[in-house]
Amino acid sequence: MIEQNNTKEILIEKLQNRSARVAILGLGYVGLPLAVVFAEAGFKVTGIDPDRRKVDTVLRGESYIQDIPGEQVKRLVSAGSLTATTSFSVLEEMDAVSICVPTPLRKTGDPDLSYILSATDELAKFMHSGMVVVLESTTYPGTTREILLPKLEEKHNLQAGKNFFLAFSPERVDPGRQDWTTLNTPKVIGGITRDCTDVATVWYQQALQAVVPVSSTEVAEMAKLLENTFRMINIGLVNEMAIMCDRLGVDVWEVIDAAATKPFGFMKFTPGPGLGGHCIPIDPLYLSWKLRALNYTARFIELASEINTGMPRHVVGKIQDALNEDGKPIKGSRILVLGVAYKPDIDDLRESPALDVIGLLKQKGAIVSYHDPFIPRLNHEDWGMESVPDLIDAVRQTDCVVIVTNHSQYDYTRLLEAAPLIVDTRNALGKAQRDNPKIVRL
Ligand SMILES: NC(=O)c1ccc[n+]([C@@H]2O[C@H](COP(=O)([O-])OP(=O)(O)OC[C@H]3O[C@@H](n4cnc5c(N)ncnc54)[C@H](O)[C@@H]3O)[C@@H](O)[C@H]2O)c1
Repeated sequence: MIEQNNTKEILIEKLQNRSARVAILGLGYVGLPLAVVFAEAGFKVTGIDPDRRKVDTVLRGESYIQDIPGEQVKRLVSAGSLTATTSFSVLEEMDAVSICVPTPLRKTGDPDLSYILSATDELAKFMHSGMVVVLESTTYPGTTREILLPKLEEKHNLQAGKNFFLAFSPERVDPGRQDWTTLNTPKVIGGITRDCTDVATVWYQQALQAVVPVSSTEVAEMAKLLENTFRMINIGLVNEMAIMCDRLGVDVWEVIDAAATKPFGFMKFTPGPGLGGHCIPIDPLYLSWKLRALNYTARFIELASEINTGMPRHVVGKIQDALNEDGKPIKGSRILVLGVAYKPDIDDLRESPALDVIGLLKQKGAIVSYHDPFIPRLNHEDWGMESVPDLIDAVRQTDCVVIVTNHSQYDYTRLLEAAPLIVDTRNALGKAQRDNPKIVRL
């Protein structure tokens, strides 16, 4: 008991006086912003990533994450507050470790925990008394307790809550967003024990504006999945509304705007060409996978997933119909896709529905090109495509323009003037153009 209190108190003191050494495992979209936030708060932070290019970029004082300015990385690296390495052995000197590695799906649709497993195995080698470890990667409830805990305790005969502290804290970063960032978005934290929650909370409170402690790792893990499942299901619902409105000949965008005038009990979601990004299309499937093992079918998730993954095909159907009206088959038609990032104003292509839309159009024999100011090259499936150099010129030479991602820098008035036909999956052209015969909306 005395050891427990001492270890906890000593670590808390080190965290409060910033002498604790911080390591971030995984310097991606989540890890680099977190490393920067801790470094800005006065900690000495080491980012550890097997990707040498990322490590070298940080060491040069540059940034590869759009939301993190290069000058900020440069300043922190020059000041000695931030460094990076591919070597895990530095973990030996670390007091506080946050794990921000990817959690994708396998081709079979099952969770791929291989990155969490390899990061935990590396960390386990260098575990020592007086450490706090926080898992940030989105995963199914039970991962921290069932996977991390035994690995981290086993090697050096440590005990969580006694001589080290283990917690889960889901990342909520929304890339490209300026108002809510890693710094000011409230952070949920749940530990393996009460002391684990306490220590992890103290650590994060030193750098983040609001920390929300909860009673267990499972609550924190499940809270993240509730957030993402909520979004996925509501997007699925509004996508199905779009399909139903299409059959009924009703303008879904007008319907949504009308419903959104209700000041309570309604939250506006908008339809689109499908789900994208690392989180919303994937994370709820971690939950449904876990529940399948418990003989339960997560029906809302499965249904929403089915509707959302069907949206690129629905969009291609709209393109086909629109070309048909112009007396053209899809085969051999020149189709220009605008925006391939999974959402506006970012350079992230992961799970982007544009990839499915382009793939389906190619399958049908269309001559597809694309433009995206954030994504100059598209090597998906060895396509070897490059963003067209002159947008308006390309728009003039095409049979159909498809707005998949509504980047804010596009001049939609000019696009509309130049294009013979536009399929607008995001209502980027707005309701003023509702009756324009050149435009087909979702
Ligand atoms: N990107 C987002 O918007 C977002 C938002 C909320 C939550 N998340 C979750 O955060 C986690 C990380 O996502 P991300 O977008 O930062 O991924 P990412 O792919 O951008 O970055 C992950 C980094 O981890 C590194 N890595 C791989 N194996 C490693 C290992 N064994 N040890 C150390 N580093 C390793 C990779 O090289 C990569 O640089 C995921 O679970 C994701 O679901 C992401």
